[in-house]
Amino acid sequence: MRLFVTRRLPQRVMERARDMGADLHDSDEVLDADALRAALRDYDAILCTIGDRFDADLFATDVRTKLLANFGVGYNHIDVEAARAAGVTVTNTPGVLTDATADLAMTLMLMVLRRAGEGERMVRAGDWSGWTPTQMLGRGVTGRTLGIVGMGRIGQAMAARAHHGFGMEIVYYNRSAKDLPFPARRLDTVEAVAAGSDVVALHVPAGPETRHIFGAHAIASMRPEGVLVNTARGDVLDETALIAALQEGRIGGAGLDVYENEPTVPNALRALENVVLLPHLGSATLEVREAMGMMALDNVAAHVEGRDLPNPV
Ligand code: DGY
Repeated sequence: MRLFVTRRLPQRVMERARDMGADLHDSDEVLDADALRAALRDYDAILCTIGDRFDADLFATDVRTKLLANFGVGYNHIDVEAARAAGVTVTNTPGVLTDATADLAMTLMLMVLRRAGEGERMVRAGDWSGWTPTQMLGRGVTGRTLGIVGMGRIGQAMAARAHHGFGMEIVYYNRSAKDLPFPARRLDTVEAVAAGSDVVALHVPAGPETRHIFGAHAIASMRPEGVLVNTARGDVLDETALIAALQEGRIGGAGLDVYENEPTVPNALRALENVVLLPHLGSATLEVREAMGMMALDNVAAHVEGRDLPNPV
C-alpha cells in the first residue's frame, strides 16, 4: 500500500505516517494540479488537506488512489462526486476540532464587539496616549442575541458557549429542527436570523448548496450595528457584498477567519478598522491538529486492513 502525505503535519502525525511507510511532502507548500494528478496515479491512499484542489478533471485519467483521507472537517476543495465516480472514497476529521473552532468564533465576536483588534493595533503603533472615559467604546455581549447559521456541531458549541457563558439569546437557521440542550429559536430564513440578531455566526459546511448562503440580501437584512462572524468557509459568504456593507456603514463590523480566495485577503477588508481578520486559525491548536492527523491516519489504517472507514463523507 503506497501512502502519500501532501503537507507537513504535526511531528507525531508525521512519525506515525512514516511508520506506516508513507512518502511525505514535508513542506507547507501547496502542491499544484500536476503534482496531485501524479499522486493519484502513483499512490493507493493520499492524506490531503485544505488547499489541495482535487477538481473533477484530476479524476479523469489514470487513478490508482482508492482513498483520499482529508485532514480537516471541510472538504470543499475535493470534488467528491468526481472522486466517487473514479472509485475514490473521501474521509474527513469531524468532531475533534469542534471546540477549538467554536472558541475562535467566540474570540472573533468578542474582539469585534469590544474593538480589541483596533485597540491592539493602536497600542502596537505607539499611538495610545492614555486612558480616557470615552476612548474606543465598544459594545457588551451579555443579553444580546446570537444568530447561528448552520446548527451543526460547531454551531451548537458556539451557541452553548454564548448562552451559558455570556447569557446570550440564541436564534438559528438550519435545514432541519434540532433538539438542543439550550434554549434557541429556529427561524425560517437566513434573512430572518440576520434581522433578529446582534451577532450572526456562520457555521454551515461549504458546498454548492451553501455557496453565498449569506448573500447580499442577508447582509442587507442585518441590524445597523450587527456583527458578522465567519469561521466556516469563505464562499458561504458573499465577501463583495460584505465589503460594500462595511464600507457604507450599513453594519457594525465583522470577524473573519476564512476568505473567498484564501490566502488572498482583499485590501478593502484590510483597510477597515471595524473588522478583525485571522489567518484560518479555527482548528489551530497542537492537540487538535494532532487529533485531526491521527483521525485521518485511522481512516488510512482502516482502509489498509479492509475495515469500515470511520469517517467517510
Ligand atoms: C477544517 O477542518 O475544515 C478547518 O477549516 C481547518 O481549520
